[in-house]
Amino acid sequence: MAKTNAGIFGTGHSYPKGILTNADLEKMVDTSDEWITTRTGIKQRRKAAPGEYTSQFAVRASQEAIERASIKPTEIDLILCATVTPDQILPSTACLIQAELGANNAAAMDIVAACSGFVYGLSLADTMIRTGQAKYVLVIGAEILTRYVDYTDRATCVLFGDGAGAAVVGPVEDGRGILSTKIKSDGRFEEQLYAPGGGTKGGFTAETIARGDHFFKMKGHEVFKVAVRSMAEISREVLCCAGLKTEDIDLFIPHQANQRITDAVANMLNVDQSRVYSNIAMHGNTSSASIPIGLDECVETGRVKEGDVILMSSFGGGFTWGSAVLRW
Ligand code: ACO
Repeated sequence: MAKTNAGIFGTGHSYPKGILTNADLEKMVDTSDEWITTRTGIKQRRKAAPGEYTSQFAVRASQEAIERASIKPTEIDLILCATVTPDQILPSTACLIQAELGANNAAAMDIVAACSGFVYGLSLADTMIRTGQAKYVLVIGAEILTRYVDYTDRATCVLFGDGAGAAVVGPVEDGRGILSTKIKSDGRFEEQLYAPGGGTKGGFTAETIARGDHFFKMKGHEVFKVAVRSMAEISREVLCCAGLKTEDIDLFIPHQANQRITDAVANMLNVDQSRVYSNIAMHGNTSSASIPIGLDECVETGRVKEGDVILMSSFGGGFTWGSAVLRW
């Protein structure tokens, strides 16, 4: 395979039918629509029903992306599923998706990088395609976060929602597609946002479950500060590598964690609101799924046009963060 640039051929998204509104949460914990709206921008989020699982939404999003890319599942060389809420411990959710799609020639693996997972996946897909090791890579972000949310903890339960987004990445002509990506991490921040139960360290017993060790725990204030700084810094780095300036951005799709984080990052980058995509009011924080869902919504509504420069930037548990800039 010849060396080449990588670009996005098709996108798709899917989420559960169930909706959890701020009014619903008011009945569950000591909170208010006013607090949630002003502090986060969230009005509602999707919530999977009992019995629904992550790969179901990932498969639907992927089928849409594959159809729009006008390729066959058997043409995919690699499936990367970014998720912190897999169907099960073994095998990977990516393998389960591979089987459902009939992507019989694809390698498959999960990426565990929290909210940065999709950008991590794009970065890896870019490398695989540029080096000729893959022609088509399916990158997915899929989460059922509501299964790991403690609905007695008002500081976290108002934030998270469920969904999946997918993109088929493949070879494009020079000057188009992914122009630059950068991914980073700092595990010293482990306890700012984590779920200690369920692994070999925290264990998985009746005691750990009773303690709620499997639920997400977060120091929201600290996460907020580092997220804003890191997303702005890494966005500048990828733009610089691509030889672009912030005024060249036609569309900024940040990870949807909190409207105030989005506003602060856009402000630091001097990107006015008309160029920033936000769907947080409707979906809350869907972690790795938020950027591919946002991208697909922009494609569906005609907000992305050929030749547009798109900046994506994310931040999540770990901490992990990353950014990608591409020409559509
Ligand atoms: N309803 C009402 N009051 C609340 C709620 C709630 N749902 N949650 C917290 N409060 C209270 C607190 O108890 C506190 O009360 P106190 O002053 O009496 O102690 C007060 O509101 C302020 O709390 P803060 O935590 O300081 O509020 P803040 O303005 O920081 O907003 C929030 C909290 C929304 C969590 C914010 O910090 C945030 O969004 N942080 C980033 C979180 C995030 O994005 N995480 C995910 C990123 S990584 C990923 O996506 C996996």
